[in-house]
Amino acid sequence: MPEQDTMVAKEFHEDVPQENRGFFLKGSASYDWGMQNRLSRIFNPDTGRTVMLAVDHGYFQGPTTGLERIDLSIVPLVRHADALMCTRGILRSVVPATENHAIVVRASGGPSILKELSDEEVALDVEDALRMNVSALAVQVFVGGEFETRSIHNMTQLVDRGLRFGMPVMAVTAVGRDMVRDAKYLRLACRMAAELGAQFVKTYYVPEGFSTITASCPVPIVMAGGKKLPELDALTMAYRAVEEGASGVDMGRNIFQSADPDAMIQAVRAVVHDGKNPQEAHDEFLAHLATA
Ligand code: R5P
Repeated sequence: MPEQDTMVAKEFHEDVPQENRGFFLKGSASYDWGMQNRLSRIFNPDTGRTVMLAVDHGYFQGPTTGLERIDLSIVPLVRHADALMCTRGILRSVVPATENHAIVVRASGGPSILKELSDEEVALDVEDALRMNVSALAVQVFVGGEFETRSIHNMTQLVDRGLRFGMPVMAVTAVGRDMVRDAKYLRLACRMAAELGAQFVKTYYVPEGFSTITASCPVPIVMAGGKKLPELDALTMAYRAVEEGASGVDMGRNIFQSADPDAMIQAVRAVVHDGKNPQEAHDEFLAHLATA
C-alpha cells in the first residue's frame, strides 16, 4: 500500500495565477513539447541563438582537412558548441555518449564529390535518430539543382516522420557549383524549405540583402560558414549574420581549419551569445592564441 500523504500544510498559492508561457523561437510556438524541447537544446533559450559546429563534411568528401581525426581535433571542442552537426557514423564511433550537448545528425546522402551532388536520398531512419537521442535531422535541399524535386521530397519525408516523434528537421540550402549565391536565390531556397515544413534552415551569408532572407523566412535561419576565411573576416560575417536576423551559426571549416580551433569557437560564441563585436572577439582569439 502506498503511504498516505498526512502533511497538513500544503502550498496551493491560490493567489498566483499559473503563467501561460510562450516559446522563444521564431515560428516555433505551435509545436508539441518534445519538438520544442529538442529545439531548446540547440538554440539557447537565454539568447535565442545557437553556435553549431558542423563536422559532417566526410559524408560526401571523405577526410576533409581538419577532420582527419575527429576524435582528436573535434571532440575536445564540443564543450564550446551548443550543438554538434555530424554523421551517425562519427557519432557512434568517436563521440563519447557522455557528451551532453545537442546533436544534429546528417540524414541525407548518396553521391560523393566525384558525382552529381544533388543526387541525394534519405540516408537515415528517424527510429535510429531517436535511438541516438539526437536533437534534429539535417537534410540538403538543392533548389535549382538537377535533382531539386527529389531533394525537396527527401526533406518533406523527414519532416513528416520527424513530426510523428517531435524531431526537428534542419534544411541545408546547398548551392550547386555553377549557381549564383545571392539574396534572390537564397530567399527562394529558404522560403521553400520553411513552407514545406523545415523547422529551421541553414544558409549562406551574402553581403547584399541578407536581412531580406531572414525576414522572409518564417523559421529560424542559421548561417553556414563556407570556405576558410581569415579569422577576423569569419567573425565579421557571423556578427553581421546575427545582426541581420540569423538565429546563430553552423560553422565548420572556419572553426576547425583555424590556426586555433578552440580559441576560434570561443570567439564565435562571444559574437553570437555575448554581443561582442568582431574586433573584440578577434582580440580574445589572439589572446587565446598567445597563451596556447
Ligand atoms: C555542407 O553541405 C555540409 O553539410 C557542412 O555541414 C556545412 O555546410 C559546411 O560547413 P562549413 O561550410 O562551415 O565548413
